[in-house]
Formats: sequence, C-alpha cells, structure tokens
Amino acid sequence: MKRKILFLGCGNMGEAILASLKASALSKKLDFFILEKDKRKEKKLTKKYKAKKFKSANYDIIILAVKPQNKFEAVELLKNIKFRVLITILAGVKISFFEKHLGKIPVMRVMPNLGVKAGKGVAGIYANSRLKNKNLKNLRNLCEKIFTSCGIVVPVKKEQGLDRITAISGSGPAYVCYFLEALIEAAQKLNFKKKTALEISLATFEGAIEVLKKLNMEPKNLRIAVTSPKGTTHEAISVFERRNLKKIILTACSKAFKRAVELGRSK
Ligand SMILES: NC(=O)c1ccc[n+]([C@@H]2O[C@H](COP(=O)([O-])OP(=O)(O)OC[C@H]3O[C@@H](n4cnc5c(N)ncnc54)[C@H](OP(=O)(O)O)[C@@H]3O)[C@@H](O)[C@H]2O)c1
Repeated sequence: MKRKILFLGCGNMGEAILASLKASALSKKLDFFILEKDKRKEKKLTKKYKAKKFKSANYDIIILAVKPQNKFEAVELLKNIKFRVLITILAGVKISFFEKHLGKIPVMRVMPNLGVKAGKGVAGIYANSRLKNKNLKNLRNLCEKIFTSCGIVVPVKKEQGLDRITAISGSGPAYVCYFLEALIEAAQKLNFKKKTALEISLATFEGAIEVLKKLNMEPKNLRIAVTSPKGTTHEAISVFERRNLKKIILTACSKAFKRAVELGRSK
C-alpha cells in the first residue's frame, strides 16, 4: 500500500521538496496530497505534480511548510486532520509548540536549506521521543528518506542542534552568494563584462567543489597544493590571512547561531 503524504502549504520550500520527491525512486511508493490556502494554487499544483485531491483521509505523514507566522492557523487545521507523523520545516518553531497544541504526537523538525531547490540541499533533522517509538521505525525511516531525496541529511541529537545547522548550511547559501558577489565585483574591476564576471565566478566555485570531490581532498590541502610560494594565489591568500578573513567567518557563524537560538526563544 502506498504511503499518503500531505503537503500543508506548498510554496517555495514545500514545492521544492515535493519536486525532488517526485523525481526520486521513492515517489512510486507514495501518494501525494496538497492543501493550500489559495484553492486555485492548490488545484494548479495538484495537477502539476499529479497529486491526489485533498480529502479528510488518514495521512501517514504531513509536511508542514507554511511560514512561521501562519503556525496558529496551521495547528487549527491539523486538529481536524488524521495523521501519524508531523514533519515541520518552520524555522525557529520548536517541537514543544506542536505538542502544546496537538498533544504528544510524533514530530520530526527539519531545517532544510536553499539547495533543496536543486536536489542538493542540506537538511538537519531532529525527532521527538514519540517518533523514536519502535512501531514507527518504518515511518521514521521514510521521513529521513524524503529529505535524502533532496540532498544530504544530518541528524542532530538535541533540538538545539538545528540552530547549529541553521548557522552553517541554513544561512550558508547566502554566505556563498556574498563571497561570489565580491568575486564578481573584483572581476568587473579587472574589466570583465558583468555577464562574463558572473560566469567565471560561478564556474570557479563549481569547478573547485567538483575537483575537491573527485580527488577526495580536504579544502585546506587542495588550497596549499595549488598555492605556489610567491605566486599570484599566495599574494591573494596572504591578504585574507593578514586581514583575518577566517576569524570574520567564524565570528559571523557564531553570531548566526546565537540569533537562531534567540529567534527560537521568541517564537
Ligand atoms: N525558503 C527557505 O530557504 C527555507 C529554509 C528553511 C526553512 N524554511 C521554512 O519553510 C517554510 C516555508 O517557507 P517558504 O519560503 O516556502 O514560504 P512560502 O513560499 O510562503 O510557502 C508557504 C505556503 O503556505 C501557504 N499557506 C499559508 N498559510 C496556509 C494555510 N493556513 N493553509 C494552507 N496553506 C497555507 C502559503 O499560501 P499564501 O502564499 O497564499 O499565503 C504558501 O503557498 C517556512 O516556515 C520557513 O521558515 C524555508
């Protein structure tokens, strides 16, 4: 029998997860349902992903992907839907919020990142004790597999581990974009047209990552291997080192972590 998966809210992130799932082999074992606020949008997405029409059925898993500010209306909806496991991707909203409103239900809290849109995401996952129940082992595995279909999965032992993952992979795509912005500006200063500056900067990132993977090398070792003494790369890296760029990055990630903890407290 196919497992029934309901997407409650299917915007940016929800649709990205659904698209990755549909493209994976796992899809054959699942029936998808979509519940959206805007019924025209719900109909369009249902058609696009060959999902089934939403009905008051028993769902195996609900993937809650509304914005955090819509959490109260979401729990009201959840009170009237039968389901076995809740997956929430709401940033900063703790599992205790759902337990408070819905009782001691099995919940997996997931912190995905932007990469999910390209099937190359990072998802930090944490399950409450209810979901660790032996009877739910298969469903718990399925919850993990849903996110494996969108990239890599990092289970954390404590819920606060999700704040740590937020500071690295959650906010990370924006850090990468920031470094890319600077590289593009530098290329333009060296008289490359904007289009070329963008192309060479993106290809440089992609190339470096592919080589690291292919050679199975640590970034530091590859960097040292390609940096000839007194050469051009050495000149640039020396500026990074003198200005302590690494320390800036470490401080930035630590601040991001503290902010994630703070936001979690306020929600
Ligand atoms: N985007 C990211 O990179 C990222 C990363 C990690 C976690 N997250 C989390 O992912 C969640 C979704 O973010 P998003 O960027 O995908 O937001 P989004 O594009 O606004 O998607 C949310 C969807 O839920 C719908 N919705 C709102 N209230 C609803 C309700 N009561 N019933 C049914 N549908 C409802 C919205 O419809 P309307 O537009 O009509 O309101 C929208 O289509 C957020 O909680 C966020 O914290 C996002």
